[in-house]
This record gives sequence, C-alpha cells and structure tokens, in this order.
Amino acid sequence: TAPETIQVETRGRVGWITLDRPEALNALNAQIMREVVAAATAFDADPAIGAIVLTGSAKAFAAGADIKEMEAKTSVDWLVDDPFGEWPRFAAIRTPVIAAVSGYALGGGCELAMMCDLIVAADSARFGQPEVNLGVLPGIGGTQRLVRAIGYYKAADMVLTGRLISAEDAERAGLVSRVVPADDLLDEVATIAEGIAAKSLPSLYAAKAALDAALETSLAEGLRFERHAFAAQFDTHDQKEGMAAFREKRDPDFTHR
Ligand code: HXC
Repeated sequence: TAPETIQVETRGRVGWITLDRPEALNALNAQIMREVVAAATAFDADPAIGAIVLTGSAKAFAAGADIKEMEAKTSVDWLVDDPFGEWPRFAAIRTPVIAAVSGYALGGGCELAMMCDLIVAADSARFGQPEVNLGVLPGIGGTQRLVRAIGYYKAADMVLTGRLISAEDAERAGLVSRVVPADDLLDEVATIAEGIAAKSLPSLYAAKAALDAALETSLAEGLRFERHAFAAQFDTHDQKEGMAAFREKRDPDFTHR
C-alpha cells in the first residue's frame, strides 16, 4: 500500500523521503514511523541506492513525537506495545542518510535528525528538546545522542531548559554539519547526496559502520574495527579501480562491488 504520511522518490542513486503531515508539522506518529522505516529499509536493501535524504517541509522537519497520539498512553503501553520500537531500525541502516532540516526539528524531530549521518540545516532551522515542557524527557535517543554530539553541558542546556537553538548555534555546537540559505537547502543537499552516492557502496557501508563504532565502543575496539574494515576493502573491485584511476589521472568507474 502506498504511504500516506511521507513522499518517496528515487533520483539517480539517491532515495528521497519527505515527511508529509503538514497539518501536524510532521509530528511523528506510529504511521509515519512505520512508513519512514519501511521506505528507508527498502532503499537500504537496494544496491542502486547510495545515499538517502530525509527531509520535511519549509516550516518543519518534524515538531516532535505526536503529542495527541501519546497523551493518553500509560507506562505499560510504552513497555508492552513499544510504539516507537521501529526507530532503531532506521538508525541501523547501512546507507548514509542526510537529514535536510528546515524549520522546526523538535523533540523526536531532533532525535530523528540525530539518527542520520549528516545534518544539513537551513539557516531558518530551529532545534530543541522541549520534552520537559510536557512533563516528560526525550525518548528516542535525545539524551544519549545529544551528549555524544555536542557534549554534556550543551546537551544539558537543551534538555533541561527545553529552549530552541538556531541553526547557527547548532552548527557551532556540532549538532549540524552545514548551514545553508533556506532557499538553497534542497539543491545543496541533492548535490551532497549525489556526491556521496557516487562513491563505492562497500566503502560507504564500511565507513558508516566504522563511524558508528566510534560512538559505541572504546578507542581500542574502534581502531580494531577500522583496521579490519580497511583491510576488507582490498577485496573489492572498486578499491583496485579507485586506486588505478588515481594513478591514471582519470575518474573512477565504480561498480559498487
Ligand atoms: C502533535 C502537533 C505537534 C506535535 C505541532 N502540532 N506539533 N501535533 N504533536 N508534536 C500541531 C498543532 O497542534 C497544530 O494543529 C499544528 O500542528 C500547527 O501547530 P501550531 O502550534 O499551531 O504552530 P505554531 O504556532 O507555528 O507553533 C509551532 C511549534 C508548536 C512551536 C512547533 O507547534 C509546538 O510547540 N509544538 C510541539 C513541540 C514539542 O513539544 N515537541 C516535542 C514533543 S515530545 P491543530 O490542529 O491543533 O491546530 C517528543 C518526545 C519524543 O517529541 C520521544 C518519544 C518516545
């Protein structure tokens, strides 16, 4: 069945997912989670896709988890039904994902952006973890990924005050990869995504996995992981091709194998 809360499009080797619940500023309900995760995992399973873009509207990337859907839940509902239990599958996909953020990225919206590999922000973007204003706290990774991204004191300032920060402040803190003029966001992100998707797919998978290891393991473990991942690339066609192309002063012709 066709998705109702997102738009999905393939452009060359880039898969685009656009959050599309304008009536709720792309608030993240169970349906949009299922549809995003289904689209992203389908792109991830397709070797013709080398990068994924996740974006929203000019006004909102996503204004958080859907408060109206959550309001009546009990703790037992969360523990037993695990209504947001599919989001870790989005964070676990192998393909590089770029969040193209315009407008609000709040609560679950900021957390969703942090499940992506690059966060490219329009200069109009606003980031925040305002859950304390609702009597709760971040629930899909905000406290953990934010501390890792920007450090304890910047993260605590966002999580404990609930204040919104500008794209510029988010970039300075290290939450945002690049800030671009709002009108240029999708063009800039398309260029970045096409550039990534043109690289050899096995090297992208390995590089993303090694970057993930940096967040999840000790330095020694991470270095071991990287060394083995590096060695493994030398069994790919594309490593030989990439290095031959350098030597022959031409562009590589990657087969993504
Ligand atoms: C449900 C939402 C929503 C949300 C906005 N809407 N955010 N609905 N859940 N998170 C709806 C509004 O109810 C409204 O619909 C419509 O979207 C437009 O929003 P307005 O508030 O009228 O727009 P504006 O005045 O421009 O204000 C924008 C805003 C504000 C500042 C972003 O909407 C806002 O504060 N939203 C909530 C942000 C938030 O607290 N996010 C964290 C959620 S908790 P109607 O039909 O009413 O007019 C969270 C936890 C994650 O994310 C962890 C889960 C496990």
